[in-house]
Amino acid sequence: MCGIVGYIGQREAYNILIKGLKRLEYRGYDSAGIAMGGDNPRIYKCKGKVSDLEALVENLDFSGNIGIGHTRWATHGEPNDVNAHPHRSMNGHFIIIHNGIIENYTKLKSGLENKGYVFESQTDTEVLANLFEYFYIKEGSDPKKCVDAIRNALRIVEGAYGLLILCKDVPKQLIAAKKGSPIVVGIGDQEYFIASDASPIVEYTNSVIYLKDDDIAILSDSGLSLINLKNIPQTPNIHKLDLSLDQIEKNGFDHYMLKEIYEQPRSIRDTYRGRLNFESKFLRLGGLFNVFNDLVNADRIIIVACGTSWHAGLVGEYLFEEFTRIPTEVEYASEFRYRNPVIKKGDVVIAISQSGETADTLAAIQLAKRAGAIVLGICNVVGSSIPRETVAGVYTHAGPEIGVASTKAFTAQVTVLTMMAMAVGLANKNLTQKEFEDLVEELYLIPDKIEKILEKADYIKEIAEKVKDANNALYLGRGYLFPVALEGALKLKEISYIHAEGYPAAEMKHGPIALIDEKMPVVVLATKDPSYDKIVSNIQEVKARKGQIIAIVTEGDTVIRNLADFVIEVPACDFALSPLLTVIPLQLLSYYIAVMRGCNVDQPRNLAKSVTVE
Ligand code: G6P
Repeated sequence: MCGIVGYIGQREAYNILIKGLKRLEYRGYDSAGIAMGGDNPRIYKCKGKVSDLEALVENLDFSGNIGIGHTRWATHGEPNDVNAHPHRSMNGHFIIIHNGIIENYTKLKSGLENKGYVFESQTDTEVLANLFEYFYIKEGSDPKKCVDAIRNALRIVEGAYGLLILCKDVPKQLIAAKKGSPIVVGIGDQEYFIASDASPIVEYTNSVIYLKDDDIAILSDSGLSLINLKNIPQTPNIHKLDLSLDQIEKNGFDHYMLKEIYEQPRSIRDTYRGRLNFESKFLRLGGLFNVFNDLVNADRIIIVACGTSWHAGLVGEYLFEEFTRIPTEVEYASEFRYRNPVIKKGDVVIAISQSGETADTLAAIQLAKRAGAIVLGICNVVGSSIPRETVAGVYTHAGPEIGVASTKAFTAQVTVLTMMAMAVGLANKNLTQKEFEDLVEELYLIPDKIEKILEKADYIKEIAEKVKDANNALYLGRGYLFPVALEGALKLKEISYIHAEGYPAAEMKHGPIALIDEKMPVVVLATKDPSYDKIVSNIQEVKARKGQIIAIVTEGDTVIRNLADFVIEVPACDFALSPLLTVIPLQLLSYYIAVMRGCNVDQPRNLAKSVTVE
């Protein structure tokens, strides 16, 4: 969470910082700030969005070729002008911005207070700024020892940080440091662009270095040098970015979320491209090559994830158990890591994450690794922390997802899980060649079927108009469609602030049925699948209590058409693949409801795209 951006070079830094912050705003948007470095360091910051910051500095002096910028998602201290980053140390030697959490900040803070330091904000970041200064002054305020002061201070810091640091006494230098929270350094022509992810950088260069934990990068007009916390020089590994500018722009859509919903036929094709061949009925996941036998022979599969990725994991549980008969569990990463789970050597743990940076998922990976499990990743952001922490894995290739409410990442994750389960099922002979080939065909056709669902957007908008004023909503599904019910409810909650619950349809009778009245929209996932008759009964139960029924049905269904208030048809497909189709109308429904309620769809309140704190 929190976006950080920095620039050092010949250009005016301000425009690069503001543009970069706008691209990073999905990481947090409760306050924003910049600091211009050089001989006359200045800080401008305020509560609110990057646009509020722009208005604030409009007539002020923001000139300079060195600068840092921050967009915040509050952890320590409420969102206000004082707690906004950047933070300056008490005597003005250091200005810093920070993403992450300093876990021992209380202890460090009281130590500094005992030495006379006075704090303005409630943030852990100001503690770091003063800690750097304390070490710097202790070493005689020698500009040559500025990096040593930072390094020594960071050695006693516990927790996570992605940091950009300006030191007043070394005006032509910018320092970046990383532990836990991501930092990417873009290399231009005698200039450097630094950010939490590559989106602010891609416009200027595609040569980047991903800092490793404990790295400190020192950037100045004489170049880049990289050391670690022990002062050992590190060799920078330069990567080429596989990202283009139009992938991170709205391209004519009103919101990123809508663009990303519409991208799904393409993103699913990109996810199976080169892996699944329709003609030869061939499936190969190159990223799993070295571990494939371990997966086939796994005693148990444990999937760990958070949020929407957890819902994809739940679909994965159904897929793995059906296609491979390997016992599979899905765990919230945050619960898994704290409850002393039983993990054995023959277990395979699969971590799913769009961003690859979710702190709880990373911690769950580390726990599973320590316990001796084989840990694989399913991740969207290339080069992010999770792929680097896992022994092998599969990228989803959905392209950058910027809308805070996840859409195309979910369908890409489910696509990968489907392919993994199919490959393992064929290898361990739980799937016959014929069943496998039928699934290849079915999966191959999913993007075309999604195109057909997207054509119904106007009708879904009409339904949204009818239910947009509800205070509560219920989503019901069975089997593969239970996780979709959860995901549909989550989408609605996240962006429209309507309270919504997803439930296994049969469980409705054990509680939620008490909530149903004529004001309650009930979204029922009711495609033609093995439990169709049962779901029809559930619809009857809702109808008897006057709930407003929105049913997602298979094309040509006439039975439910006579029962439901609204019916959205999706093309027929194998039940195991039905999450990929049925989630689309639910994404559109919540999108239109949120827009009609005047909500900020791409930046819903209190949320952030990448949750890098625990
Ligand atoms: C946040 C996002 C969700 C996402 C979850 C897990 O809550 O708002 O959209 O599903 O984090 O993120 P990950 O990047 O690990 O998939």
